[in-house]
Amino acid sequence: MKNIIISVSNSKGGSAKTTSTAIMGFILSEWKNKKVLIIDMDQQNQIKYLMYGYDNQDKIKEVKESSLSSEAGGTTVRYNKVSKNLDFLSFGTSLVSLTNSESVDLIPRFKKYLKSLNYDFILVDNPPAFQSASNTGVGISDYTVISTMTQTLSYDGSFQQEDTVNTLNETLDSVNVKLIAVLRSIKDRNNHNAKNSQRIKDYFQDLMVKDIIPSSTEYQNMVDTGVNDERAKERRAIRKYLSVVDEIMERISKDIGEDVNGKTWIGK
Ligand SMILES: Nc1ncnc2c1ncn2[C@@H]1O[C@H](COP(=O)(O)OP(=O)(O)OP(=O)(O)O)[C@@H](O)[C@H]1O
Ligand SMILES: [Mg+2]
Repeated sequence: MKNIIISVSNSKGGSAKTTSTAIMGFILSEWKNKKVLIIDMDQQNQIKYLMYGYDNQDKIKEVKESSLSSEAGGTTVRYNKVSKNLDFLSFGTSLVSLTNSESVDLIPRFKKYLKSLNYDFILVDNPPAFQSASNTGVGISDYTVISTMTQTLSYDGSFQQEDTVNTLNETLDSVNVKLIAVLRSIKDRNNHNAKNSQRIKDYFQDLMVKDIIPSSTEYQNMVDTGVNDERAKERRAIRKYLSVVDEIMERISKDIGEDVNGKTWIGK
């Protein structure tokens, strides 16, 4: 079976996209023994801190730099190894000047290139809209997960993101992406407003992920240390995402008629 490409998106910034991508990548690679590639589509280049830890950047070793000129529009990408089962691909600043028409050109070629790679899952951390890189990240994926904080503007960004998914599917022949889940995280308990929560549930219905990621400073600390399950408190924070990963994997398994989830093994 070819790899499965899942992007994490929301047109609103600060909606836990990067945190969710990094932790889901950790669970799939470390706890489910899947081969995973994480792609950073964001010019802010921040997910690398969650991969390695802000304090451990000397660990970042470039495995190879390749030019995708033949496959994907003259773009340079950098591969890094994070752990046995987890690799990381970034664009540096080469996405900064990506125009809309270049993005349209890049999507089919980049997707074809990614599909040739030997991974079980490719997770794409998207920047907020309205950047061409954001459309590219969604356009290359098989599935997208909308990640939202439980706040009005983040919910609003989720509705806009759904529009973007629909527009990409309708306007570009090369795009065939399915919205598979809407994931909520609580950053600040005061903003977890019951009325708004009902509104997004009424709208997205079965697409909602059942569990909500609770507010925890552990997720913020992971920027410094990198996502790891060395200690109980970090393990607990990562575990909050396990039912989320299981639910998303079950939906994808159902969609393609094949079990893609597999057993969970938490080593420590
Ligand atoms: N469940 C949570 N509890 C507390 N803080 C959280 C939680 N999830 C994420 N955060 C924090 O919220 C901030 C925004 O999260 P994150 O960077 O993942 O969002 P993003 O959608 O990727 O943002 P951007 O649009 O800038 O890329 C970060 O400081 C992160 O550590
Ligand atoms: Mg981000």
